[in-house]
Amino acid sequence: MTKCFMQIVPFALLMMSGSLFALEPQSSYELLSEDLKQMQDDDFANPGMMTVDRGQELFQKPGFNGKSCATCHGDNGEKLDPEQIAAYPKYDSQRGPVTLQSQINQCYADRQEEFPMLYDADELIALETFVRYLARGEKVNVDISGSMREHYEAGKEIFHTRIGQRDMACVHCHEMYAGQRLRGQILNQAQINGFPIYRITNGTIMSLHEKYIGCYGTLRAMPYEPGSQEYIDLEVYMNARGNGLPIETPGVRH
Ligand code: HEC
Ligand code: HEC
Repeated sequence: MTKCFMQIVPFALLMMSGSLFALEPQSSYELLSEDLKQMQDDDFANPGMMTVDRGQELFQKPGFNGKSCATCHGDNGEKLDPEQIAAYPKYDSQRGPVTLQSQINQCYADRQEEFPMLYDADELIALETFVRYLARGEKVNVDISGSMREHYEAGKEIFHTRIGQRDMACVHCHEMYAGQRLRGQILNQAQINGFPIYRITNGTIMSLHEKYIGCYGTLRAMPYEPGSQEYIDLEVYMNARGNGLPIETPGVRH
């Protein structure tokens, strides 16, 4: 009797969370208009390339101790391994999950002897955009074994929890209704392989955590700070759920 119960309960939980219908990851790129696809694919037309260039300048700019990122990682970052870039966030036994942005900031502070920048500072987003651009085409491959697992689960929990005055969860729009239209737009899966992205409407680059804040706003929910543990856990979960998608940074959106 108990044994039978044990078998049924996990099944019922799976049904409720909708994870029985595991979705095949699809890049938001697939749902873009032909114009936007072309703009994203063409480095001369992609406005996000201005941020890549800015990031490259910063990459070569000497820090307090005279060293630049380029001193250690090659003039144009050629000593950085694209496979490793695509593996972020990575787990560190002392720091927990480390996002690409925190890794860059740590190098900036420790290895250039600078004051660390605030999470999502413009210069940090530019450096992140440049570094991720170096891994364009590389498949996202985040390892959630070991201690990373609990951060993946925490992110998944947030993704599935109803929030705000709209009382909706990310999973509603981005999985259950994904592919359907909402006010003229087709709802994507909120895959994050193109981040940081260039938003044409705003005329600026947008980091992942800024986008999270935007979606919290849409749901009329209190957002967290950029770099908060909640957003880092979401970043771990959402990357892993899109493992295998190619990095497209800088993605272009309306
Ligand atoms: C004095 C040398 C030095 C400087 C300067 C430096 N780094 Fe690093 N960086 C390292 C070392 C050492 C590591 C850790 C070893 C490794 O993982 O390759 C590392 C790791 C990284 C990684 C992760 C690579 C991986 O395989 O996980 C990235 C990305 C990175 N640095 C970017 C930057 C950026 C951007 C800057 C400038 C803001 C910078 N680094 C400045 C030495 C440096
Ligand atoms: C009411 C529906 C709805 C809910 C619920 C929702 N979103 Fe979104 N989300 C959208 C729409 C519409 C877009 C596309 C338009 C845009 O980017 O502004 C989007 C875009 C995104 C993107 C960008 C994807 C891309 O490739 O450009 C991310 C990331 C994202 N949402 C994350 C989240 C997260 C995290 C949550 C939960 C906290 C969430 N969303 C909840 C409607 C929703």
